[in-house]
Amino acid sequence: MSAPALAVRLADYQAPAWRVTDVELVFDLDPEATVVEACLRVERDAGTDAVPLRLDGESLELLALEVDGGPLPAERWRLDERSLTLLDLPATATVRTRARIRPAANTALQGLYLSGSAAAGFLLTQCEAEGFRRITWFPDRPDVLARYTVTLRADRARFPVLLANGNAAGAGDAGGGRHWARFVDPHPKPSYLFALVAGRLERIEDTFVTAEGRRVGVVVHAEADAIAQCGWALDCIKQAMRWDEARFGRCYDLDAFHVVATHDFTMGAMENKGLNIFNSKYLLADIEQATDDDFRHVLAVVGHEYFHNWTGNRVTCRDWFQLSLKEGLTVYREQEFESDVASRTLRRIEDVRTLWRAQFPEDAGPLAHPVRPLHYSAIDNFYTATVYEKGAEIVRMLATALGREGFRRGLDLYFSRHDGRAVTIEDFLAALGAATGRDLAPWLAWYAQPGTPELVASGRHDAQAQRYALTLRQRTPATANRPEGQALPLPVATALFGRDGRRLPLRADAASPPVSDDGVLLLDGAEATWQFEGVAEPPVVSLLRGYSAPVRLHQDVAAADLALLARHEDDGFNRWLAVDTLGRRLFADILAGTASPAALPLWTDAIAAVLGDDGIDPALAAELLTLPDEATLSEGRVPVDPEAVHVARARLETALATALEPDLLRCLDRPVAVASQAIDAPAQARRRLRNRCMALLARAAPTHLERVRLQWREAVNLTDRLAALACLLQAEAPDAPAALDDFATRHASQPLVLDKWFSLQATAARDDAAERVAALTTHPAFRWENPNKVYALLLAFALRNPRGFHRADGAGYRLIAESITRVDALTPQVAARLATSFGGWRRYEPVRRAQMRHEIERLRARPHVSTDLADILDRSLA
Ligand code: PHE
Ligand code: ZN
Repeated sequence: MSAPALAVRLADYQAPAWRVTDVELVFDLDPEATVVEACLRVERDAGTDAVPLRLDGESLELLALEVDGGPLPAERWRLDERSLTLLDLPATATVRTRARIRPAANTALQGLYLSGSAAAGFLLTQCEAEGFRRITWFPDRPDVLARYTVTLRADRARFPVLLANGNAAGAGDAGGGRHWARFVDPHPKPSYLFALVAGRLERIEDTFVTAEGRRVGVVVHAEADAIAQCGWALDCIKQAMRWDEARFGRCYDLDAFHVVATHDFTMGAMENKGLNIFNSKYLLADIEQATDDDFRHVLAVVGHEYFHNWTGNRVTCRDWFQLSLKEGLTVYREQEFESDVASRTLRRIEDVRTLWRAQFPEDAGPLAHPVRPLHYSAIDNFYTATVYEKGAEIVRMLATALGREGFRRGLDLYFSRHDGRAVTIEDFLAALGAATGRDLAPWLAWYAQPGTPELVASGRHDAQAQRYALTLRQRTPATANRPEGQALPLPVATALFGRDGRRLPLRADAASPPVSDDGVLLLDGAEATWQFEGVAEPPVVSLLRGYSAPVRLHQDVAAADLALLARHEDDGFNRWLAVDTLGRRLFADILAGTASPAALPLWTDAIAAVLGDDGIDPALAAELLTLPDEATLSEGRVPVDPEAVHVARARLETALATALEPDLLRCLDRPVAVASQAIDAPAQARRRLRNRCMALLARAAPTHLERVRLQWREAVNLTDRLAALACLLQAEAPDAPAALDDFATRHASQPLVLDKWFSLQATAARDDAAERVAALTTHPAFRWENPNKVYALLLAFALRNPRGFHRADGAGYRLIAESITRVDALTPQVAARLATSFGGWRRYEPVRRAQMRHEIERLRARPHVSTDLADILDRSLA
């Protein structure tokens, strides 16, 4: 992977020659034309003389420029499309600019823009990564930290609510029907964390008293039609605040914490200091308009953004190459939060499913990059599964290797050393290492090296000596784009089980590498062997418990041993994994045409045994009944024939349903003492299991559709209603079209529910899926300008309907390529995200491969391709 000519390179990093200590911003807000006055107090770094001050600025109209209170002669400044450069400044100076910007015309959703209509919508900002330069001229890089004072002025009737980062510092009348409000943020911050919001918003609020005794106002803002759905989010914020104090000793640090919901957002949410902004999808939730999964996602994303206050905001990134420093760590914290307050096993299974479905293929294809990339031409395209999810896995491995206490001490040192600073991944590892007396330098390779390591395990039992030798070997093989990788530190959480299902002690002899008290073997070279003593019989070996390292494991385990683990493993994740592995083996046999009916019962009996266990967490049971999706099953296979994968998976699922029919019925008929409107974790888990049983039964025999219809009629929450609708659709039942219409009518005024309605149809594996999706783009509720709609319909089709997207005649590819062109003219970031669906093109059989390549090339050849889109297309072809 060589860097394209215009790329930004990590190796070229230079500390800024100019600092900005203080910023004063005054906004005269108006959707058509907003005027931004900025006053920057700048200081040249000692030792850098005569360096011009270069300020980033894009799509800004310059109205005025002054330095130290006077005009600047023409020869001392230069303005172009991307920057304003000031020459021959004194070592400290005050730079004042005035700019005009046009929020209503801003469909890129970066900088200041309008959510909703010009007449009724509200104004808001999005600055990460490089949006602040569309608001004013500024050194728009994360290592310039300044104190902000912000004054907002706007028409009082049209924009009654005015918000910006920091503490409220006055408000009043501005005459002529206008009013003003001022905010001072005492914490120096990079420009990407700036935010303002102005408009007609309702609020709900509460107070939280921190462990340090600070009374914090917690406020959730949304438009009038959404405010009733904000109660859950408010609850989640308080839970997150309490949890971060208890688990990591981190308190909130301003007078108020505000969050705002918008329907117009390219990502999930944004951690602006004290003023988090959320895609409504991850903030709004009530029983009528949100599914159980939505409730959990709100909890997780609210937690995520809140946790950024320390991991990202108080300690921030030196440059965008360090993005995973804040994202990997914050995803890890979010995962731990949900695991502690909801279900650890369920969250872990879901995270690993995501890793396999999204990150492994990314890491194996042309868009692969290290968790810390070496160069980029569009940073927006690096908010990836690798930076987020693989980054979180690295942090999890560190926590496993250092132990819970050690990791906590390490993080404490990281915060105390670097509070208020912009730092690097090296700084993070150094703090963890210093606090625990370990040299963590070898871990840097995890951040530097792309690709998924392969871990090969082999064992040997010596009956006479009662010893078991376990050998672990690792490799990160070369691919077309990169050489073979080096050995990485791998924590392998391990347990041995006897034939009776009991745990055996894990006692390694003195010559073996160390084993931690909780059974973690640290493989830190290419190969190592552990000799375990006192092992009387050949053990069943359970490796990577809790998925302790993000690798592909190759271990020769007999199906009967997997069945034993499915029954007896007390690590919920590995229990699930044993069942999942059995299922995948059967899938591989069906795909290869070598399936033997005799192999099926080991798998289905293992599941039936778990289902019959009254003590089982219903959420785990539901996961056991859920096969990997087609994308995951295709992963690692070359060449992929998506049609064959679809057919084989459907056959396997039908076989499961048929074999378990009586068990599934029993499970469904078990009386449940759960209020159908309760949303606590046990209630959600039970619904999850019941709906999974129902879906399988509908597969087993059409007669079971009567149950589905009953649920469809009687559902009192969105989870159950949607689950029933999905079954009717999947079965292509004659009443499915009418049910779809009913659903659309019932939820006509609820955009987030309609998104699910779009997704359901987009992911239905029908022959005419592409035509249906194309037709839905003309539905009155569909809007090309709205990222949620584009994701719900088009991205869902491209990523979650492999059969439709990869249809042999290329109709799916053409639909997505045309959509990309259309979206690129509006919201380039969204177009680039859609285009990643072509990233795996090389893995497909020749006909599809050629078609996909043709679409990528055609897109690249069009006039006016955005930088974001061009970057994805170029890297896909490289
Ligand atoms: N920083 C945000 C998060 O992960 C994601 C984001 C990136 C949002 C860029 C908007 C723009 O919490
Ligand atoms: Zn984040």
